Amino acid sequence: MRIAAAGTPATGAGVNGAAHHAGRMSGATSDAGRAGRATSDAGRAGGATSDAGRAGGAARDAAEQRFQALHFAPAPALRSRVPGPRSRRMLAEQAALESRARTYPRSLPIALREARGATLRDVDGNTYVDFFAGAGALNVGHGHRAVAAAATEQQRRLVHALDLPTGPRLRLMRLLRGLLPGALRHSGRIHFGGPTGSDAVEAALKLVRAHTGRRSIVAFQGAYHGMTAGALSVTGDVRRARAHDAPVHFMPFAYCYRCPLGLRPQSCGLACAKLLDSALADPCSGLPEPAGVIVEAIQGEGGTVVPPPGWLAEIRSITRRHDVPLILDEVQTGFGRTGLMFACEHDGVIPDVLVLSKALGGIGYPLSAIAYAQELDTWEPGAHIGTFRGHQVAMAAGAAAIELIQELDLPGRAAALGELALELLRGAAADEGEFAAIGEVRGRGLMIGVELVRDRATREPWPQLAEAVRLACCRKGLIIELGGRYGNVARFLPPLVISRDLLLRGLEIFLAALRESERAQPAGSAAGPSAS
Ligand SMILES: Cc1ncc(COP(=O)(O)O)c(C=O)c1O
Repeated sequence: MRIAAAGTPATGAGVNGAAHHAGRMSGATSDAGRAGRATSDAGRAGGATSDAGRAGGAARDAAEQRFQALHFAPAPALRSRVPGPRSRRMLAEQAALESRARTYPRSLPIALREARGATLRDVDGNTYVDFFAGAGALNVGHGHRAVAAAATEQQRRLVHALDLPTGPRLRLMRLLRGLLPGALRHSGRIHFGGPTGSDAVEAALKLVRAHTGRRSIVAFQGAYHGMTAGALSVTGDVRRARAHDAPVHFMPFAYCYRCPLGLRPQSCGLACAKLLDSALADPCSGLPEPAGVIVEAIQGEGGTVVPPPGWLAEIRSITRRHDVPLILDEVQTGFGRTGLMFACEHDGVIPDVLVLSKALGGIGYPLSAIAYAQELDTWEPGAHIGTFRGHQVAMAAGAAAIELIQELDLPGRAAALGELALELLRGAAADEGEFAAIGEVRGRGLMIGVELVRDRATREPWPQLAEAVRLACCRKGLIIELGGRYGNVARFLPPLVISRDLLLRGLEIFLAALRESERAQPAGSAAGPSAS
């Protein structure tokens, strides 16, 4: 089955209306040769997308060609079986040297050599379409020339600067503040973490604890906020460590496909959000007055779970009513990923603390930050320190990436491409004979999840199928990720600069891999083969 690249009629079964939907992104540009001839770099094409909107089809074609020029072509292109011989050798050496705790080499058995845009090349010369983008970090794609140039230039000048003021640090903060929602834009404060998303989450928790003098935190079932634990618990300075052995209370997230309350989104009245209200209001609920509530606007690792409209706004109004700071973790959803600069903007929500990382570092440099309301800025100097809180190269890259995201209107591009992808996938899912294992297709912008189940009626998760599909995708030249509470959600987080043709090609590969894998392990069978 082929999904129509633009202007090409869809043939074969399974993707209802694919040609129609694909046509919506306009401009037949499926030919990699044409992409190759498009010499100008999208990074230099300031305002291309908005100009294109005004000038109509021809200009849109030209804009799309500039995006096509950002990737290896042709892609995907396989020169060997996957994994090829060099990958095998390097995977074996890695296994002999590196920890058992390594993860991705078990499910994506390739060794990488280079990357460009939304494409990756392995050491055997195989080229892949990248729907994973460094775990959602590469919104502007791999190695974008303008961003790489800013980083290289900075590397020559200064790399390490503690948290002393520097040009890149101030420039990044100015640009970042200009993007923030509501009052954060005018008076918000910024604190850099050191330098992972997890560390910025730690900073956010410390900040609200220091400000409120309370200890406990409310989080949500299915949440993922990082991997750190314990560094403070073994730190001898009790003034710093004191608040960090505090309890965390979990409330239900709005996972409507598997509603924790057994309700339906059409009629539930956002009951799961209102549980937070009653728990905070009831003196006997067992919930001590929390220092903060931390939530993802869309749960990422939890399975690309998009709460229904109004849910986040309800959480915001509850936390405001009870005077509890709201921490919004936009590590994965930030910088245009969901179709707006920040996902909280879909619901008109302005958090007290916004947690940022991943795309903040531009083309994959590690960088993280929190941006928070000025009133919270009551913690002590040195309250959250770290050796690498001033990575100048990452800051220069981050500033260049923000400019690029704005110049190319990447949030708008994510919205349009995301809508196209969701329609195609939902069209495929409607063909129950062909794709019975698709339980739900969901997402926003270019943050998309396909939940795989053994049975649409019982919704029994099917993680073995998901694993088999990920491996089959890799063998066909597409890199995807899995997530979800049960590991049964295929997750797509491509760079926002992906060309429409690569997106369509990737979806086509995914559906082919799904169909083949499903046939290879029928729903009634026992656990399927492990991908590792
Ligand atoms: C929402 C969210 N918060 C925090 C983190 C942790 O970021 P890091 O892996 O950089 O520590 C992640 C990582 O995937 C994330 O998705």
